[in-house]
Amino acid sequence: MHRTHNCGVLRASNIGENVTLSGWVQRSRDLGGMTFVDLRDRYGITQLAFNMDTDAELCTKARKLGREFVIKIQGEVIERSSKNDGMATGDIEILVNALEVLNESKTPPFTIEDKTDGGDDLRMQYRYLDLRRKPVKNKLMLRHRLSIETRKYLDSIEFVEVETPYLIKSTPEGARDFVVPSRMNPGQFYALPQSPQTFKQLLMVSGFDRYYQIVKCFRDEDLRADRQPEFTQIDCEMAFVEQEDILNTFEGMVRHLFKVVLDHEIQDFPRMYYDDAMEKYGSDKPDIRFGMEFVNMNPVTQNKGFAIFDAAELVVGIVAKGAANYTRKQLDALTDFVKRPQVGAKGMVYCKCNEDGSFKSSVDKFYSQEDLQAWANHADAEKGDLILVLSGETDKVRKQMNELRLHMGDQLGLRDPKVFAPLWVLDFPLLEWDEESERYHAMHHPFTSPKPEQLGQLETHPGEVKANAYDMVINGTEIGGGSIRIHDRGIQQRMFDLLGFTKEEAQAQFGFLMNAFEYGAPPHGGIALGFDRLCSLFGGSDSIRDFIAFPKNNSGRDVMIDAPAPIDQTQLDELFLATTSKEEE
Ligand code: AMO
Repeated sequence: MHRTHNCGVLRASNIGENVTLSGWVQRSRDLGGMTFVDLRDRYGITQLAFNMDTDAELCTKARKLGREFVIKIQGEVIERSSKNDGMATGDIEILVNALEVLNESKTPPFTIEDKTDGGDDLRMQYRYLDLRRKPVKNKLMLRHRLSIETRKYLDSIEFVEVETPYLIKSTPEGARDFVVPSRMNPGQFYALPQSPQTFKQLLMVSGFDRYYQIVKCFRDEDLRADRQPEFTQIDCEMAFVEQEDILNTFEGMVRHLFKVVLDHEIQDFPRMYYDDAMEKYGSDKPDIRFGMEFVNMNPVTQNKGFAIFDAAELVVGIVAKGAANYTRKQLDALTDFVKRPQVGAKGMVYCKCNEDGSFKSSVDKFYSQEDLQAWANHADAEKGDLILVLSGETDKVRKQMNELRLHMGDQLGLRDPKVFAPLWVLDFPLLEWDEESERYHAMHHPFTSPKPEQLGQLETHPGEVKANAYDMVINGTEIGGGSIRIHDRGIQQRMFDLLGFTKEEAQAQFGFLMNAFEYGAPPHGGIALGFDRLCSLFGGSDSIRDFIAFPKNNSGRDVMIDAPAPIDQTQLDELFLATTSKEEE
């Protein structure tokens, strides 16, 4: 028998019991006559004690144990002389009477403790060791809990989990596909799903009524902290529903998850139209943990002789509460921030609303104290506040101001990861114009239904048509997105026309779906939540990588298994793929 207990359960009530434990040596300490070893497993740490006076041979053996050796011990649970309140097992220790080394370990490349000396790359290369660390392990435990609770909730309201294939034909979600060559069909490729979108719609045609799947999706796109090439969705679809039904169902699910996993009661779950989100926050995923809403400053800033503002389509301001005491250096840093290429503003104007009622701005040459008072009145700024202003072309300047607003939110400590502010963003535009290809693209995907009352404008004013599409945003992160779908073949065909597909192309790519629409497709809609993002939100972290057992780095590499990697010529030949070796080029 390897163990009678795990390393996290023994308490004072077990004193006097003889136990067997197995685990890893976290660390050992020799204190003269005694040697202490911290024994770790998934459940916790238990202190082992070896006594030189009573069993010198055993104690000598214990002293030779290296970090991460796997051992099995037997001994008696005794009361600790110096208790450790910070440890669940801190009242007891095991006085060991038998020790067996089950496996030795090389010295690990970094310390396997809550705080480690290992850098990111090293930890990823030895991810199996990193996963032994409690904070990392706890993140995966949180993920497990969220997936179990998601399943329980969806199961309780009649959702059925159905697996859909991974080897499919490309689904157009806007990113590039990962493709897999087919040996049995020379020169042909499968695509890995960017999402199970078309399959879940087909399941509605099949009558499954309520489908879900916690499912891997694959997208060959540029990576960021909240993006991985393979990630997981809680993918859902419902038949005979309207937008309201979907919003209520998934608001319910998220409330449930917060309650059971974090014991957190979500209060408001407000809704905001896309157009308002863009106007007030310059983003379709506003972080509403804090206000600092945009103010259109055109009326109070233009026609005063300041050419930059006069020429701007939009002069937009935000009020940073209590920040009038920002130093010159801090203001310069803000200007540098907005001028970074990632933000792209040409400059920033500020106006300090001083405590004595005076104003100090970076454009004092053009604006009198009365003018600046008008700015403050217009923007609802009070004494002690700082007004920050950007100007330019509406869309661009809104994006820039969004960055500045979030930056100020960070600086002023308004983005507490323990505060949760969910939001539905509604009525997204159906289409967006793509300058490069000079055609419309579906903003969500081509299966999203236009607002029924705007169907007539589809061909005449496509850019103005809104979609029955919604995003779930929490703390400024897009957690999920979905829509009510088209379920009518004719409308689906019009959509493909608009997107520039010829009839033949549409039939070749999506014939299966449009054909299905001719066999009694019910009205349906759904949503997919980014599961990794949900986990990182619950875990209070910005990076989804920590919540994935074996993630990829920013170049899309798994540095532990060293993938992607070349394959040998035989494999290439079998797949009818040309070699790419340098010599042959
Ligand atoms: P969408 O493309 O909006 O919708 O994706 C749904 C959610 O998945 C998450 N997500 C990602 N998470 C990590 N890494 C990525 N690369 C990544 N890409 C997306 C986001 C996003 O909100 N089929 C539709 C859903 C539907 O219409 O029902 C879809 O996939 O949190």
